[in-house]
Parts: sequence; structure tokens; C-alpha cells
Amino acid sequence: MSLTSFIANNIAKHVKDLVPYASARRLFAASAQGNDTTAPIWLNANEAPTSAQYDLDTSLYNRYPDCQPDKVISAYAQYAGVNKDQVLVSRGADEGIELLIRAFCNPVTDHVLICPPTYGMYAISARTCNVGVKSVPLINNDQGDFQLDVANIVAASDNVKLVFICAPNNPTGTLPARQDIESIITHYADSALVIIDEAYIEFTDSTHIGWLAQYPNVVILRTLSKAFALAGLRCGFTLAQPDIIHELLKVIAPYPLSAPVADIAAQALSSAGLTRMRDQVATILHEQVALVDVLPSIGDIELVGAQTGNFILFRTTHKDALMQFLVHHKVFIRDQSKQIQLTDCLRISTGNAAENARLLDLITQFYQIQEATSL
Ligand SMILES: Cc1ncc(COP(=O)(O)O)c(C=O)c1O
Repeated sequence: MSLTSFIANNIAKHVKDLVPYASARRLFAASAQGNDTTAPIWLNANEAPTSAQYDLDTSLYNRYPDCQPDKVISAYAQYAGVNKDQVLVSRGADEGIELLIRAFCNPVTDHVLICPPTYGMYAISARTCNVGVKSVPLINNDQGDFQLDVANIVAASDNVKLVFICAPNNPTGTLPARQDIESIITHYADSALVIIDEAYIEFTDSTHIGWLAQYPNVVILRTLSKAFALAGLRCGFTLAQPDIIHELLKVIAPYPLSAPVADIAAQALSSAGLTRMRDQVATILHEQVALVDVLPSIGDIELVGAQTGNFILFRTTHKDALMQFLVHHKVFIRDQSKQIQLTDCLRISTGNAAENARLLDLITQFYQIQEATSL
């Protein structure tokens, strides 16, 4: 039997039709190399533009690391203002998403509920675990700017075990209304966990963390990948009641964090690390305001949603040609146009001053060429 037939006969049914995740970096790996020496500009994964130096203590690398290193858990608990037993650290917030699905959803029968357009990994993780996905799109009309459709979220309750709410929402940059989230939490009090994904929370001041003490079915996701400028580290946090953390510890790998990751995360969460993070956030937000001021005056660009994260969503009828032009010049942004309600939409991560200037320059050039060729 050939390997192809072997795989066709033996692959798990729910895995057969899945496709590997097209990560922001994988999508442009070939274009980033090219023949010229221009450095690529990565504005497609909402990463931070700069990285910091960290020290590594290699003296214990011969030993297996702690599953939940106390220096990381204690530092994050202090930063977030919760107790240590309410914190789980994992290989990015993405692993937190998967652990919640694995611990709380029965394959085949149970569902997660998502509100697109939103972050893709909630649905991808559910599918890899053979768990159903119910979609209740955000409302984007006169009554709301990408707001939660509470009535339909409530109506979809059957077999829903996890409700994912992204706040700030990636890629729209909008914040769901607090009273809507609260109604959903209350409705699902006895049947589902409500996961509030705060991956971008440091760019706004509207955390929902206070609800952890009030509502036992609330879970908050956090990460070091965005404001802390450590996407390469793979380190994220799930914050919840201790009993929920206890269940997640049953399904987490024995050594989710390597020793160097724990060392670096602890330094990032030190008081010097927090000061650096806050300075970087201020700089990015400053840069973002400048981009938001200029972008809508170029070509047919129309901003979409809001900018409560470190990214900007916009619409242009030239989105394919603009993407191609930027890729040709090794500037990479993210096409979001396949998401519901986001026809012709592209998303830019806010970079540093030089990166943003180059981006604006190229976008301006693109529309000048468009205008000249359409004359
Ligand atoms: C909303 C949201 N949640 C979670 C993540 C993943 O975070 P991590 O890098 O910690 O896995 C991302 C990454 O882009 C995101 O946008």
C-alpha cells in the first residue's frame, strides 16, 4: 500500500479535510527572501516592531523545567492583579484556547460559539479537536459598529460550552459593549464559559478582569506576544477561577514552557520590563494616531472598525493590486477580505516610525500610479 493510500485510509476523519494554518510569516516566506537585499517589513501579524535584550541563566538547562514556573506565575498574577492560583501559563494564548476546548468540550456533540469577523484560532482549534463551531456574526450597521448580537448568541445556546469574545477584537479593532458581554456571561452562567480574549488589552484601558471575582464562568486570555514584544517567545496566560485552572492542568503538556522561555518571561514581567512595555505601547499608539490621520486621505482608503489594538483595518477597491504592490516591495500586511463583512479589507499592524513612513510612501505611490494609468 502506498503511503498516500495508507494516510487516506487511516487519517482521523475530522483531520482529513483540515488545512495547515497559514501563519502570517509562512504566507510570505518566499517573497521575503527575493533577490535583492531590501529588509522585509512585517506588518501582518500585529507583532511589536522592536525586540529587547534578555539574560539567560543556563545553569539548570540539564533539568526539566517546572510545568508552571513560580517566577512567571507570581509575576503575572501581580501584574494582572489576581491570585497565583487563578493563573495558567502556556505556549502562547493559542495553547490556552486549545486547552479550554480540550478540557470543556466533548468531541462531536459540543460546540464553541464565535462572533466573526474575529481571530481565526478559536474555530481552527475547535475543528482540530472535532468540536463544533457555531457562528453568530458581529452586528455592523446603524445599531452598532461590530457589536455582539446578544439575542442570537443567547438563542444559539444548545450544546455550546465555550463562548469566545475577542476584546479588543482582531481584526476590527473594536470593543464589544460591556453590558452585552455581561448579559452573555449571565445567560451562560450554568452552561458555558465565556472566554474574553484580551490579547491586545495593553493598548486600551478597558480590561474585564474585575469580572473574574464576580462571575465564575469568566475566563480571560492574555499574551506576551503583542504589547510585551515577545511573539517569538510563545508565552500566554489563562486567568480564571482556581477550579477552572485545575481542570486545564489536567490536559496541559508536562513541560509547556522551556526553561529559557520562563527566564525571559520573568524578566519581561519585572518592573523594568513593565516600564519598557508601557513605553513601547505609548510609542506605538503615538505612531498609530499618525497613520490613522493620514491613511483615509490616500486614494479610496476607508478605515473600518476602530483602533483599540495595535492595528488598523481599512477597505479599498484595489486591495489585490495594493497587496501585490506592497509584497513586491517587501512590505507585508494581512488580507482580511475573506472574513464575513470584510470584503476588500486589509489589516496593517502599526510598526515603528521608519516602517510606517515606508508603508505610507508606498501606498501613496501605488495610488499615484493607479491615477496615472486610469487617465
Ligand atoms: C486575538 C488574539 N488572541 C490570541 C492570539 C495569539 O496569541 P499568542 O501569540 O499568545 O498565541 C492572537 C495573535 O495574533 C490574537 O490576535
